[in-house]
Amino acid sequence: MIQAQGLTRRFGTRLAVDGLDLDVPRGEVFGFLGPNGAGKTTTIRMLAALIAPTSGSAIVAGHRLGEANREIRRRVGVLTETPGLYRRLSARDNLLFFARLYPVREPERQVERYLRLFELWDRRDEPAGSLSKGMRQKLAIARALLHEPEILFLDEPTAGLDPEAAKTVRDLIEALRSKDRTIFLCTHNLDEADRLCDRIGLFRTRMLAVGAPAALKKEMYGRRTVVHLASPSPGIEQALDLPFVTKVERLDDRLIVSLADPDAENPALVRRLVELGAEVRFVNELRVSLEDLYLDLMEGRDAKA
Ligand SMILES: Nc1ncnc2c1ncn2[C@@H]1O[C@H](COP(=O)(O)OP(=O)(O)O)[C@@H](O)[C@H]1O
Ligand SMILES: [Mg+2]
Repeated sequence: MIQAQGLTRRFGTRLAVDGLDLDVPRGEVFGFLGPNGAGKTTTIRMLAALIAPTSGSAIVAGHRLGEANREIRRRVGVLTETPGLYRRLSARDNLLFFARLYPVREPERQVERYLRLFELWDRRDEPAGSLSKGMRQKLAIARALLHEPEILFLDEPTAGLDPEAAKTVRDLIEALRSKDRTIFLCTHNLDEADRLCDRIGLFRTRMLAVGAPAALKKEMYGRRTVVHLASPSPGIEQALDLPFVTKVERLDDRLIVSLADPDAENPALVRRLVELGAEVRFVNELRVSLEDLYLDLMEGRDAKA
């Protein structure tokens, strides 16, 4: 649904996006994750045919960027970082205004459909400015969907929202999942990306890594079993001589054991530890958060830069 090759954008001498390759299939929720200034908004603006790339190419919703920009704009919806709603217009009139602008067929029906779908129907006559932040953001997302775009670009949809409003918006994004609609979600919120996205790309000017959250973690770290010992058992980490164990670290009374397949290998690991005289208190898996991964990647890049 979105394919990009070497997509690059400069602003004067500043390189905002450097040679982005991307392949997002239809129906995927793709998380585009990166810190402030990473080039996320610039990427959305290029893919939505709002600004031209300096170089590179992309096919968006079946049309080539630069050759069919009007077609692309008709097939994508964009929630920008600062969605300008008319604060004094009612929720409904805001949507009707944009529905007529697009234009959307049967604007009244389409507006009602989205107000009901997003649970804003009861508040339809209230000025947008008097709605809660979460409701305003839902209204802005409804606006981006009125023309039934194949791709929805969401630029930091929960930034600046309080936790409750952010949850409202996240639940909404979850509900929007469908095999026919592709969602490109920019965020610097790691938990959000982990929860909502089929795949994520870690991005800072360049793509640093792409994959399903779980696969990315596994690829970076392998899997690790933590064995909590009831007594110190000095030297046991050196004595542990199992072919499938790639690394053993000790942290106080814990052994952190790297292995490829804990489900299959943990029983033999525990047996061997007991043979070596260890008293095993309990065993669990070391969980790596997306945040650990992200920080490692960002730091790694800094070190290389
Ligand atoms: N219109 C512009 N003119 C000049 N520089 C810009 C413009 N838009 C973005 N930039 C620069 O490009 C870089 C990426 O910005 P942006 O895409 O907004 O990042 P993000 O959305 O990830 O925070 C930043 O260094 C920003 O200052
Ligand atoms: Mg941005």
